[in-house]
Amino acid sequence: MPGYEFFGEEERKHVNDVLETGILMRYGFDGPRKGIWKAKELEEAICTTFGSKHAQLVSSGTAALTTAMSALGIGYCDEVIVPSFTFVASFEAILSVGAIPVMVDVDDTLTLNPEAVRNAITPKTKCVMPVHMCGSMADMGALQDICKEHKLILLEDACQSIGGSYKGKMLGTIGDAGTFSFDFVKTITCAEGGVVMTNRDDVFTASDGYTDHGHDHKGADRGADLHPFIGYNFRISELQAAVGLAQIKKLDNFLAIQKKNHTALKNMLAAIPEISFRRIPDPAGDSCTFLSWTLPTEEITRAVVAEMKARGVIAGNFYWFDNNWHYIRKWDHLKNAITLNALSPEIKAAVMHHANKDFSASDAIMSRCVSTAISLLWTDEQIREKGEMMVSIIKQVLAAQKAEA
Ligand SMILES: Cc1ncc(COP(=O)(O)O)c(C=O)c1O
Repeated sequence: MPGYEFFGEEERKHVNDVLETGILMRYGFDGPRKGIWKAKELEEAICTTFGSKHAQLVSSGTAALTTAMSALGIGYCDEVIVPSFTFVASFEAILSVGAIPVMVDVDDTLTLNPEAVRNAITPKTKCVMPVHMCGSMADMGALQDICKEHKLILLEDACQSIGGSYKGKMLGTIGDAGTFSFDFVKTITCAEGGVVMTNRDDVFTASDGYTDHGHDHKGADRGADLHPFIGYNFRISELQAAVGLAQIKKLDNFLAIQKKNHTALKNMLAAIPEISFRRIPDPAGDSCTFLSWTLPTEEITRAVVAEMKARGVIAGNFYWFDNNWHYIRKWDHLKNAITLNALSPEIKAAVMHHANKDFSASDAIMSRCVSTAISLLWTDEQIREKGEMMVSIIKQVLAAQKAEA
């Protein structure tokens, strides 16, 4: 997810605009800022680019999730259904608003299994949070139906899928709200940053105030703003927004390169009949930041990963099953409810319940899955070399396995 790979003149120009005024804050200082409003400009660009009615920039993707949940009224002991394959930010944000993360299985889309969502619904369920992992989408049609039927909030975590779409709508703009992260390794980056997108006026107004100490932002005098509710400081700075403004203008180019490189690598791996690719509910909407593929067994996959490591092609190939950030298997701090401050007994028990929950359906997929990150900087020659090396390793492992059998 490599916006940082194309960092240059345009980013420097927008940052310099801000440095010349010296006004690094996104609110106030109307005179001295001399018409430079990078955060506002980026919010407008986000609305236009992704087709969202509103956009509220924040300091990170994690802050975006927290803000969206607060603005949607999700709070104490509400249950939020999330996938077992995601980033730790999902449950961090849920816990930060006093709600309960309910992790459920993923399927071969590497995102929420709609049947697992149905089975997890209880009277306390308030929200379903699909996470569009690794550049591609959850089965949004099925999840929308479930949310409609059970009157649940649909909050999309599209932090890893900027520029992806589902049936013509951009990911992050389909549910009640959606979020992007603009951290350093996302498709477009601000260094650190994020956004809440929503078509709902009430959710936008709440997000706007919540991220700035509850300010109502109604008057020209910041000191005279009213505080209709308690908020926090999740503001983005003008410097970060300036970088994002340069990056969003390059998004179409990023996506076109990603698609080209993704297709080239996929065509090479597709020559191996034992490889299956991640199921994509709407293939035209894949943002192609990763190519995710599976092998027939965990044993074969582990042998391939070990050989890729030995031959130096592991960089950019992620075996999530052993990864500490992204898959429930390694989240001992969650399963043991280790927090710095006291959790309520109900929340603690609900969180610790994950230690004994059966995730064998997720394990069966994640233990066989490798995701290859697609770089914008690869030359055709480098893709060919990488692909040939991967194909040779996979074939070698498969042949050794057959010989043993
Ligand atoms: C799926 C997902 N959600 C949320 C986040 C949090 O974003 P940030 O790092 O900007 O807080 C990330 C970051 O990697 C992510 O991958």
